[in-house]
Amino acid sequence: MNPLKKKTLSPQFSDLLDKLNKASEKKQMSLLLDHPWDEPIDNVWLKKRENIAIYGTPYYDLASEEERRLLSVYETGSWWYTFIIFENLVSEYYMKIVNHGSLKRFPEVVKYIHHFCKEEIVHAMVFRKAMNYFNISPFPMPLNLKEIYSHNASMSEFPLKAIYLTILIEWLAENNAMEDCNSKEISKLSRAVAVEHHKEEARHIEWGKNMIREFIDVVPGFLNEAREITAPMLRSMLDMSVSSIMVYSRVGFKDKAFKNYKDLIPAVLNSENRKRINSKIMAPMMRYFIEIGICDHENRQIWKENGFEKDAEDAQDYFKKKSATETDIDNVMNKNYD
Ligand SMILES: [Fe+2]
Ligand SMILES: [Fe+2]
Repeated sequence: MNPLKKKTLSPQFSDLLDKLNKASEKKQMSLLLDHPWDEPIDNVWLKKRENIAIYGTPYYDLASEEERRLLSVYETGSWWYTFIIFENLVSEYYMKIVNHGSLKRFPEVVKYIHHFCKEEIVHAMVFRKAMNYFNISPFPMPLNLKEIYSHNASMSEFPLKAIYLTILIEWLAENNAMEDCNSKEISKLSRAVAVEHHKEEARHIEWGKNMIREFIDVVPGFLNEAREITAPMLRSMLDMSVSSIMVYSRVGFKDKAFKNYKDLIPAVLNSENRKRINSKIMAPMMRYFIEIGICDHENRQIWKENGFEKDAEDAQDYFKKKSATETDIDNVMNKNYD
């Protein structure tokens, strides 16, 4: 018999759902009230200087100060646009599975998905409003997102893979946004867009992580597939965030070196500064992959091929040293915003 048919929710997961549902009812982001929509827009940086793609490469010295600032504007705008596309897709897809009844045996889960979708609809409106505020026009649709739900989850199955792909994107994007924008040195509005979003995304990510923990043993084939697809997917998402030719062309760099993408792209992807930022983004995710068996010694090769060997080793070391009484250091809901 299909093990899903007998599945009941664990008390820990039921508790978490209760907390998440209450938190979502208590405070919800407002399109009108939670951000400083009156900030002047002249000369603002939308992300930290040391997080723009060319920082720490020879290209930084070839750019003017205004070009560096514009890079901070368009790189952030391109993230916001990616969020808009993704959040439109996820709310559409999750509402579809709710309406289809794929999760009807778990009404508390369905209740939380309603909050989740409503929150994503408002987030997409906030990102759109922020792009308009800073006069940033839309970017082309990110190709790796276009068919994420249409190819990867049929309506007849329990949607664990789709939930997993969703948290991979949300978690990586959130870690990236907090690295880039949680700083008092940048535009107050850009920081508020990131921080207010993170407060609700932290709940989405904890929900997704725990959906996987809860159902991993009752969805056949999920773990094996996750062990194959995770490393290459994360590699392409991390690299996409700093290698957008469209972003570079919008800045309009004067120096000719910026037209030679064959040299420019590897230089930004492989800089020591980018590797440092990437490893901070990856660290909590890597610990989770080891905990649930998505990364282990037997599939270490695929992590190595995708440039995550050191991240996997660091995560492994963490578990070797961890004491039995230590709490979950990666609970995203415990984030300190200052
Ligand atoms: Fe969101
Ligand atoms: Fe989300």
